[in-house]
Amino acid sequence: MTTTLPATPACDPFAPFQLGPITLRNRFIRAGANEGMCVDGAPSKALVKHHRDLAAGGVGLTTVAYGAVSKVGRTLENQIWLRPSILPDLKALAQAVHDAGGRISFQITHGGSFVTSCKVQGATLSASSGLNKAGLLRGNYWHRAMNESDMERVASEFVTAAQLCREAGFDAVEIHMGHGYLLNQFISPLSNKRQDAWGGSAENRARFPAEVLRRVKQAVGHDMAVLAKINVADGVPGGATVQDAIVTARALQAAGADMLVLSGGRNIESGWFMFGSNFNMEEMAKVLKGSGWLTPLMLKLSQMGAPKVAFKEMYFLEYSRQIRAAVEVPLGYLGGVKSMDNVRTALADGFEAVVLARALIHEPALVHRFQSGELSQSGCSNCNGCVPYIYHPAGTWCIERPANSLTLNQTRAAG
Ligand SMILES: Cc1cc2nc3c(=O)[nH]c(=O)nc-3n(C[C@H](O)[C@H](O)[C@H](O)COP(=O)(O)O)c2cc1C
Ligand code: SF4
Repeated sequence: MTTTLPATPACDPFAPFQLGPITLRNRFIRAGANEGMCVDGAPSKALVKHHRDLAAGGVGLTTVAYGAVSKVGRTLENQIWLRPSILPDLKALAQAVHDAGGRISFQITHGGSFVTSCKVQGATLSASSGLNKAGLLRGNYWHRAMNESDMERVASEFVTAAQLCREAGFDAVEIHMGHGYLLNQFISPLSNKRQDAWGGSAENRARFPAEVLRRVKQAVGHDMAVLAKINVADGVPGGATVQDAIVTARALQAAGADMLVLSGGRNIESGWFMFGSNFNMEEMAKVLKGSGWLTPLMLKLSQMGAPKVAFKEMYFLEYSRQIRAAVEVPLGYLGGVKSMDNVRTALADGFEAVVLARALIHEPALVHRFQSGELSQSGCSNCNGCVPYIYHPAGTWCIERPANSLTLNQTRAAG
């Protein structure tokens, strides 16, 4: 494996950047990070405010997380489910971001077997059949291997969801292929045990996700940027490796991706790898107080055997550099970007953009404050205290900041 880096000249992080058919005002992207801000599976006014604040704070592209492409594709009961009846709410969200000078992307996903808070009729979908660890709490005990007619249907659901986002005025979609969601269940050998053309080699495991992207790109790619979020590795033995990620990245490049956002880890098997640090169990216990004994117990059990991981900035850099060296498709560097030094390192290494979650949850105006020189380092302590607040009725917030307004999170965006 070569680690030679492409000789891309370091570029100005605050200069405009062409992403497929759209132009971003700079190279800062807000990562898809579940806001917990939905009413009736539709965007709330709190979600509008959240993304308006990010756009007003200077991000080039903000990513709304995460819209299920179908009702059974939801992981959470109250997650946004992309359907025509919520078009006015989607339009209100896109308009608010545009009014504040930003661009907006929707992270679109299908949970497959990763369904944690709704009951699905029959077995949940996945790459292979088996016992569904993620579904035990809600009685989704089994998942089944998708056949080709399931694949056809799910691929067209991704296309329909992307078309709805276009109609609402969104500038981009990001297809979620990481973290253990359905398309990642195909990519990862932890969940893909197939012996047909959709399993086995890394090339075969990437085929269905690449086909989904190809169709989405064909349907909306003239008007919208089409991104995909992938894992640089799963971070556990038996999981996808960085060599697998290179094969996936090449397949997505061939399918026409405008950018790959490089993440890592799986929600069930390796959350610490995704965050480069351990969960905040104390804050988790506070948020889940009152939700019965089973959920907290399951969460505790899921952390048994987790290694102790101390956060370090740019924790995916060594993996991501290997992918950078192997493909030409634009790449968004993600994972522990906290300072202007980090931003400059990523761009000098040939990544086209930086993608941030926690630093922007902590300070939505971080980009403006970096640009003005007022700040060169994020104040986020990486305590992971915000993570359990995706389950809080007021939605996600940084525990070092004032809490969100509950009222704003109880009214629909277009209500
Ligand atoms: C509160 C919270 C919610 C998240 N929800 C999602 C999500 O819905 N979809 C996703 O792809 N990643 C999600 N993530 C992961 C982030 O996108 C990102 O991969 C991770 O936080 C590492 O980036 P960072 O170091 O900039 O925070 C979430 C992260 C946080 C902190
Ligand atoms: S709670 Fe705030 S300080 Fe802690 S990780 Fe989240 S954004 Fe950073």
